[in-house]
Formats: sequence, C-alpha cells, structure tokens
Amino acid sequence: MEKKRFYITTPIYYPSDKLHIGHTYCTVATDAMARYKRLTGCEVMFLTGTDEHGQKIEDKAREAGVTPQQFVDNIVQGDRGILDLWRLMNISNDRFIRTTDDYHVSAIQKIFKKMYDNGDIYKGKYVGKYCKPCESFWTDSQLVDGKCPDCGREVQDAEEEAYFFKLSKYAEKIQHLLEDTDFLEPRSRVNEMVNNFIKPGLEDLCVSRTSFTWGIPVDFDPGHVVYVWVDALSNYITALGFLNDRYDDYEKFWPADVHFVGKEIVRFHSIIWPAMLMSLGEPLPKKVFGHGWLLLDGGKMSKSKGNVVDPYILAELFGVDALRFFLLRTFPFGSDGNFSNEALIQTINVDLANDLGNLLSRTVSMVGKYFGGQLPEGSGASESDRHLAEECVKEHFIAAPVGPEDNAYDMSLIVQAANLRNLYEDQMERFAFQNALTEIFKVIGRANKYIDENAPWVLAKDMEANGSRLAHVMYNLLETLRICAILLTPFIPTSAAEVLRQIGACEACSTWESAAAWGSLSGTVTVQRGDNLFPRIDTDKALEQLEAAAEAAKKAALPSLEIEPQLEEKVDFDTFCKSDFRAVKVKDCQSVKKSDKLLKFTLDDGTGTDRQILSGIAKWYKPEELIGKTLMAIVNLPPRKMMGQESQGMLISAVHTEKGEECLNLLILDDKIPAGAKMC
Ligand code: MSP
Repeated sequence: MEKKRFYITTPIYYPSDKLHIGHTYCTVATDAMARYKRLTGCEVMFLTGTDEHGQKIEDKAREAGVTPQQFVDNIVQGDRGILDLWRLMNISNDRFIRTTDDYHVSAIQKIFKKMYDNGDIYKGKYVGKYCKPCESFWTDSQLVDGKCPDCGREVQDAEEEAYFFKLSKYAEKIQHLLEDTDFLEPRSRVNEMVNNFIKPGLEDLCVSRTSFTWGIPVDFDPGHVVYVWVDALSNYITALGFLNDRYDDYEKFWPADVHFVGKEIVRFHSIIWPAMLMSLGEPLPKKVFGHGWLLLDGGKMSKSKGNVVDPYILAELFGVDALRFFLLRTFPFGSDGNFSNEALIQTINVDLANDLGNLLSRTVSMVGKYFGGQLPEGSGASESDRHLAEECVKEHFIAAPVGPEDNAYDMSLIVQAANLRNLYEDQMERFAFQNALTEIFKVIGRANKYIDENAPWVLAKDMEANGSRLAHVMYNLLETLRICAILLTPFIPTSAAEVLRQIGACEACSTWESAAAWGSLSGTVTVQRGDNLFPRIDTDKALEQLEAAAEAAKKAALPSLEIEPQLEEKVDFDTFCKSDFRAVKVKDCQSVKKSDKLLKFTLDDGTGTDRQILSGIAKWYKPEELIGKTLMAIVNLPPRKMMGQESQGMLISAVHTEKGEECLNLLILDDKIPAGAKMC
C-alpha cells in the first residue's frame, strides 16, 4: 500500500542576524510534527530554509563591508550559523531552500511572468517619499516623525515605476476561504485577517522595486526586482520543483498539509499566498497555522532591543532534548508565552529529572537489583491484560475497574497506558503539542504512583512468595515506559531512544503500532543500565552559568562577521597587492535614470555570474559604444550603492585635463584578453 504523504514547512528565516529562541521554537515544533508523522508511517517532506533577498540584507551587508551574498553565506553556513543550529537541535528537515539558490531564482522569474501573462500583474506607479541623500524610497508608514528613517532628513514626494499584483481581484474568494473553511488556524486569527485587511478593502500589492538591487530581477524588465514576499512565499513550491528541474516532487507533495508560521506573518500566508496560487492556477495549501510568540518580560524578542535568547547557550548548558521539550511542553502552540530561564530549569527538574528520569532509573535499577537485569519467564502480559488493553484502544477508553481485586492497580495503569496513543494522536493532529505531552506525563505520573502502590521493596523481602508478582509489577512499569518513550520520540528523539535502549525494547516494540499494543515487550526482557538521562539542575548555579555564557558570547560576537579588508585611499604596498584587478567584458551598458553622470555596466568577469558596476563616465561615453569592449576593473571592493543601484567594483580609467576640463578615458584592453584574466 502506498504510504500517506505529509508536507510541512517552517517560514524561511531572514539571515539578517543569527537566529534566536523564537525561530528555534517554530522549527522545533515543525520538527516534532514531521517526526510524529514519520512515526505514524507517513512519507514526510519537511522543508525549511532562508529568505535571503531584500533591502535590509543589502543594507546590513554594506554596513559590514561585504557583499550581500557573503553576508548571508556567513549567517547561513558560517560557524554557529543557521545550518549549524538546526544540526545542533537535531532538526530532521528533508530539504533546505535558500532563496539565492539558482533554481529558485529562475523559477521566481517564471512565476512572475506567468502571473503577468495571466493579466494579474500590471505596471503602475508606486507613490511614496524619497530621501535624496540616501537615494531611498519610503512609504509614509516607514517614516520616523515624517523624516527619513535612516538619516533623519527631510523627504520629498516621489514616484517610482513598479509592478502591481491584482490582489483586490481575489478579495471575495479569500474571504470565503478564511471564513468558511478551516484553512487558517487557530480560528481566532480569522477574524483578525478579515476585519483588519479584507473588510477595509484589499488593495493591489506592489510586487517590484527599483530602488535597490539585492533581489531577483524581473527578467522581462531588468531594473525591477521582485518583491521579497513574492520571492519568499514561492519557496514552498519551488523547493518541490515547481517551474524548475532541480526537484521533482511537486506532484507528489503539493498541496502542503500545513505551513507553520508566526502570527505576524499570517497575513502574508493567508491572503497574499493563496491569491498568488489562485493566479497561478495551482492548488492551495491545506492549512496555515499561526503560532504564538515567545515573549521576554512580556515583550517580543528582537535583536534591536537586545533581548534575544541564544538557543546555543541553552542547548549547550541543558541539552538539546531538554530545550526542545521545554519549548513544546510549556507554551500552547497557538498562543503567546513568556520565556524565562527559571521556567526552563523548573520544567527540566520536574518533568524530565523527577518524573521521567526517576521512573526510568528506579525501574531499571530494581530489575537489576531483584532479577539481575532480566525478568524471569512468566512476567509478561497476561491474556486478560492484553484483552483489556485492546478494548481500551478500540473503544477509546474504558474506565479501569476499581475495587478490592488485587490487580486493580494494574488495570488502572494498563487502561491509561493503552489509551495513551489515542489521546496523544488527537492532540498531535491538532498541533496541540503541550496537550499531547500532558497526556504522556499523566501516564508517567500514574506509573510513579504505581511504584508506591506496589511497594516493590516490600515485595522483595519475600521473593519466594512474591517474586512473580514483583516481576509482573516490573514488567508493567517497563511496558508503560516503552509506550511513553515511543510517543516522546518526536519531542526528545535522542533521549527517547535511550529510554527504549535501557528498557530493552527491540525494534518491533518501538513502533507506532506497538504503542497501542500492550504486552509487546518480551516477558523475559533484559534491561541495560545507562546514564542518568536528565540530571537535576541546581537553579542558582545554572542561572550564574547562563549569565557568564551570555557575557562570553557577547564578547565573542563583537566582530560577528569575517569582514574582508576594506581598501583605504592611502594604502601600503601589501594592501595594494590585495586589490583584484580583472579584465571584464561589457555585456550591456545603460544610462542610469535621474543621473547625468552614471552608466550602469553588466559585465562578464569570468565567474559565470554577471557583475554590475556603475561608473561616473556618462559625460564622455555613450553606452552603446562600450558594449563588447574589454575593460579593467577592481572586483574585490565592497559593493556600494549609487542612485539606489549596487555597484560591485570599480572600472579603471585615466583622468587628465584637456582644454582646462577634467577628462576620463576608460582603460580599454585588447579583445583577445579573456574575461576574468587577472591583471598584475
Ligand atoms: N522571512 C520571513 C518569512 C518568510 S516565509 C515565506 C520572516 N522571517 S523571520 O526571520 O523574521 O522569521 C519569522 C518567524 O520566526 C516567525 O514567523 C516565527 O515563526 C519565528 N519567530 C521569530 N521570533 C519569534 C518569537 N519571539 N516567538 C516565536 N516565534 C518567533 O518573517
């Protein structure tokens, strides 16, 4: 039989800064869901990635003195970057998309063109404010006290040519989608979307910009780059191979089962994204789930406020599984929650160290102490135990008999443990991770109580009379641990596997099916003692360590980027030798709007990727006479923005004076010199 399929995604994160605990929260939740679905037998596609274009990244790269690509590469692939973080957190994503990946870039150009050809994208004017010194366009809402948010100077009314997407055309359909289906959850977010965005009238959306260059160019109108949200949202389909040859899973996995997103980007996912798909004529995702925020002292974490929590520090100090567990055990996924180190430590101590850790270590050590590590023949589940459990699973619950029977405690434990998978599944299917874990910990609590009820240490005083009862009590505890460990696997994969190892669970009794089959563990099971899974944490000491680690990280992060040496105007010989002079061939040359000085060159620099350089020589050259010429350029200068366009290097020319006027002559090289040739 073909496996059921399940496609789940996280938002693709901005690599404008290192990620914090809030991003980790969403990714861990998605990972738990993906692991749960795999456990139940689905074929899962779990996608995450990075959203790498846009003005903010361009600006940050400039501040750091590196190219935008270098900047994002460092945050994504660099030491303790995003990929490292997901590896550390044991994230089981099947795919990782970067919006700078070639296949995505060309697919976006096709998606844009398709929406244009369908008549849903048209050219218009973007009206806003312009800051001349910064060469930046701003919307009214971006202004700070009516002034430029960057430099604080006066701005002027301005217009920029731009493409618009006919979002308004889809308003009715989207309203129906939101109000009459369960496309968007939690339900509370629906009213917010409809009242705040749809009812006041959906306006067409500006989907191209010309005031910066770090984006995907509109291929039929170069100068324009695709609006970053059109670029980003499409990742969910390009990563499956939509309009590209890199992957071939679109038919197999689209539409997505669920997009997990933070509540602040629900608007993009529940209004713009479905409208884009409607325009493309593609199916809509089955669900968007808007989760809540992790707050710090009641406010949102943000790098600019300096109140972010570093997941590396927490995972290194407390362990990856403990951190994963805390995130999903403590906060209801759909609502906001207050993060605190104290709450983290308390959850680890109460649930993991006390309840789960103690149940495991007491059980395994008692089996060791009373039975030499292996239960004797006849300890396993009786026919009536199995029957009771089967009925529970079928009926979804059976009240445990209470009364004087000597196995009343057994029955109550078996009923709860056998019924656990059903309750857990109901919660997991609703993304109610916290509730699913609560169900598990009820059973763990029940098992701890069962130890006290049966007082094994009393039974052990007379092994001849009570040995087989004691062995059966141990078996019931191991069986309960087994079921709990299987269901904990999506949350704490490494520790759950260790529980299963310590209680001697074989592969066949570690499966989803076996989690609803009481009595799967062999009656003569051998346990393996192991390390204490979750040692108790000394709160004061841990808080001190956290403070010290945060301090150390702050210091270490000071030069957070390996910044390439910036060339000064006055240089020593060694520095001069670092300049990379290359032959470049002019593929295209155009004058720059609103500038009487600048020409914009598209150059072949031998790398296979076009390089754009702006040069102030419009007074002396006509663009068309330079096309095809081989020039000389310095290619390792930090990129600069001129008239809103990025210049990636400098063309070399001779400056002299003719008839009292400054004159520039480009250094034109012999055509035989290949593009990319190094000059020395
Ligand atoms: N790049 C866009 C998403 C594009 S998806 C097509 C973006 N990136 S982001 O880096 O800002 O990440 C936002 C997501 O990170 C949120 O939607 C949320 O899932 C997660 N979180 C960021 N801060 C968070 C908290 N403080 N708390 C919980 N989740 C948080 O938006």
